[in-house]
Amino acid sequence: MKHLIDPTDLSKQEIDQIIALAEDIIAHRERYQGSMAHKKLATLFYEPSTRTRLSFTAAMMELGGQVLGFSTPQSSSAAKGESVQDTVRVVGCFADIIAMRHPIEGAPLVASEVSRVPIINAGDGSHSHPTQTLTDLLTIKRELGHIDDITIGFCGDLRFGRTVHSLIKALSRYHGIKVVLIAPDELRLPDYIKQDVCEKMGVEYRETDSLDDAIPELDVLYMTRVQKERFLDEDEFDRVKDSFVLDARRMALAKEKMAVLHPLPRVNEILTEVDDDPRAAYFRQVENGKLVRMALIISLMEWKNDPAHKMPEHEPPIYNASLHCSNTKCICNNENAEPRFRLAENGITRCWYCDSKVK
Ligand code: CP
Repeated sequence: MKHLIDPTDLSKQEIDQIIALAEDIIAHRERYQGSMAHKKLATLFYEPSTRTRLSFTAAMMELGGQVLGFSTPQSSSAAKGESVQDTVRVVGCFADIIAMRHPIEGAPLVASEVSRVPIINAGDGSHSHPTQTLTDLLTIKRELGHIDDITIGFCGDLRFGRTVHSLIKALSRYHGIKVVLIAPDELRLPDYIKQDVCEKMGVEYRETDSLDDAIPELDVLYMTRVQKERFLDEDEFDRVKDSFVLDARRMALAKEKMAVLHPLPRVNEILTEVDDDPRAAYFRQVENGKLVRMALIISLMEWKNDPAHKMPEHEPPIYNASLHCSNTKCICNNENAEPRFRLAENGITRCWYCDSKVK
């Protein structure tokens, strides 16, 4: 069965197919009404969300399907200690497809291993957010006309920004992508993305702490919020929270056709004076999120029993009782998920669920 846990669960051809379907939905909305009649989507959200949960809900409704679920773990039996595995086994009796958001990294992966219906990762901790990636790719395509051959700057919290990690993974399969990583030292992109993705896939990247220096060369500026909820140390958050602010002065340094994306919510990193600039694409990006999720739901339901759309094959995991995942927010340190590891680039051993280094 096809699940979507990580952007690389989709081949480039499958991603392009979903984007093309979203574009067809935009052009012929009426053709898709009723295509999910009598089907149910469950939204299991263990962490707050506005866009992702409501766009999944709106997407399923527009397709004629129905939606059930919960928007906080306190209103589910997770509050009584039910595991993620048991919850999806149960919800799979009620729903045809499940979208799950969880603060614990690897939770949707563990869910997919026991689920009898497709699981969509709607964001797991700081790790991955593949449906935001589909949203971002559709937005880049609609704003610029192409995804290949672009220079994209990621600005802000590249350490905890799961949307950044997922989008870089997906873009690494496109041609001629140049990445500029704009962040203070404390918020730099994790090594596993630089090594296992950029270096392995030959993506040209450079790091800087100056948005003013980087902005003139960009086709896309991807702004991010500093993720207060992921910091273990409040003083560290206070030091970096106001690192970068996009304002009209900085927009004046940018190309005439640059697109500004932001997964939202924003706090103070884009001033409202930028909202009326035609290059500000972040509210159009929100609408693209619903459209691409409509395309994703249709695709995963069609591919459910199609052997041509299997999950990618990986090297078998490493089981070694003397190794431990260093991430306190990984599923293997929080629920009954057996620790597993993989051998990554440069001979580094990483956690199977969250990609952190081992201890
Ligand atoms: N972009 C995004 O994931 O927004 P929400 O947290 O509101 O779902």
